Amino acid sequence: MPLLIKGGRVITATDDQRLDIYCEGETITRLEPDIDPAAVDPKTEIIDAAGKLVFPGFIDPHVHIHLPFMGTHARDDWASASRAALAGGTTTLIEMICPGPDDEPMTAFEDWRSRAEGTASVDFTFHMSVVRFDELAQRQLRQIVNDHGIASFKVFLAYKGALDLSDADLFACLSLAKELGVIVTAHCENAGAIDAMQAKLVSEGKTGPEFHEPSRPTCVEGDGVTHLATMAQLTGAHIYCVHTSCDEAVNAALAARRRGVNIWIEAVAPHLVLDKTYAELPEFEGAKYVMSPPLRDKSNQAFLWNQLRARAISTIGTDHAPFDFEAQKKALGRDAFPKIPNGIPSVQERIDLIHTHGVLSGRIDYQTFVDACSTQAARIFGLYPRKGTIRVGSDADLVVYDPNKKHTLAHKASHSNVDYNAFEGWEMTGKSEFVTVRGKIQARNGQFVGETGTGRLLKRKPTHF
Ligand code: URP
Ligand code: ZN
Ligand code: ZN
Repeated sequence: MPLLIKGGRVITATDDQRLDIYCEGETITRLEPDIDPAAVDPKTEIIDAAGKLVFPGFIDPHVHIHLPFMGTHARDDWASASRAALAGGTTTLIEMICPGPDDEPMTAFEDWRSRAEGTASVDFTFHMSVVRFDELAQRQLRQIVNDHGIASFKVFLAYKGALDLSDADLFACLSLAKELGVIVTAHCENAGAIDAMQAKLVSEGKTGPEFHEPSRPTCVEGDGVTHLATMAQLTGAHIYCVHTSCDEAVNAALAARRRGVNIWIEAVAPHLVLDKTYAELPEFEGAKYVMSPPLRDKSNQAFLWNQLRARAISTIGTDHAPFDFEAQKKALGRDAFPKIPNGIPSVQERIDLIHTHGVLSGRIDYQTFVDACSTQAARIFGLYPRKGTIRVGSDADLVVYDPNKKHTLAHKASHSNVDYNAFEGWEMTGKSEFVTVRGKIQARNGQFVGETGTGRLLKRKPTHF
């Protein structure tokens, strides 16, 4: 059924205009100041968007859904994660494929893809983690890029022995990425330094979640960024630093950019609105707020927001990684913080958090909001202009947003399978009213109203030569 969104303020990364949007099939076919409802297909569904904002569907470039990690598994599947994403206005997810070091890349790719296909209700693609780099892995990585349209890798400079790569393999992986035109997303820390610091703190009896940040301070993250950037400079690979949490890491990336390294920077919602005092909460509550890189001193937030406003940081994702508080974080990490499964879920909350704490508090404007939460992810990861903007010919992924709607974040309203909400009780202003994926209404007022399994794998072409 065609869809007419009438009377809204259409906001893109560059514009803010009163326009009507007409969608037929899966795409936007008309974008005009005044489309007469009497002159379109009588079967057209009409959404009255007067007083509302209309955004391109938001893209989260960094989520974990199926995640075997730290001796356990993240709680979401594609059904729950899609519902959570849609309820919050996100229409495309990019999931990290995270195999173990003994797994074959192709087997992992097929596994992650089969979990999404037929279950996802948002469109999706993957970053392919490279955790081994022998001949077989290299051959399969080429196939994953060339035959399956996965145009980004992920590497970890952290989680020693589980996901990290040797320098020789990192160099070879970046060289392959350069050859294939694939961008390499990277978790940047110094894995060896973290191991040493964790052992030292635990031996001193410092075992609680409040010691997670001191075990991997900002210099450890800055060092990771510098190390990756050096390797990128040597190989010419294009790199994207995920979840940069602090001025030291961002400054290391900006210094590399000034040297000519092709480097992009991601921030994630938790670092922008939460600080390390949350990990210091008593009764082990702090474990809810253990992620890596850790929540930082609050002073870093102004710096991150300013770099977003300057568009030096390109994207805002979530790093959604849902581990239960009771059965996972507490049960596994009670005796020693290095065993607390790392991750803070926020795929449902991201857009309202950034609207409330970024736009309404004057830190970024609406264009930067759309750019960081949608357009840049599409551009960097080869989805633009199909995704990430509102123009004739683009997929009809749209969010009709009420910027004045007040609501309270709560676990009971969450669609994620996890047992807590890191933002419980937070007052928000702004909420998605209608969310469409390729012209179909998938969510309405925070409720899933669509069809499960309609999400599609987005094949991408390498662009980072
Ligand atoms: O704490 C985090 N970030 N957990 C998920 C895995 C990762 O490092 O992205
Ligand atoms: Zn990470
Ligand atoms: Zn992550």
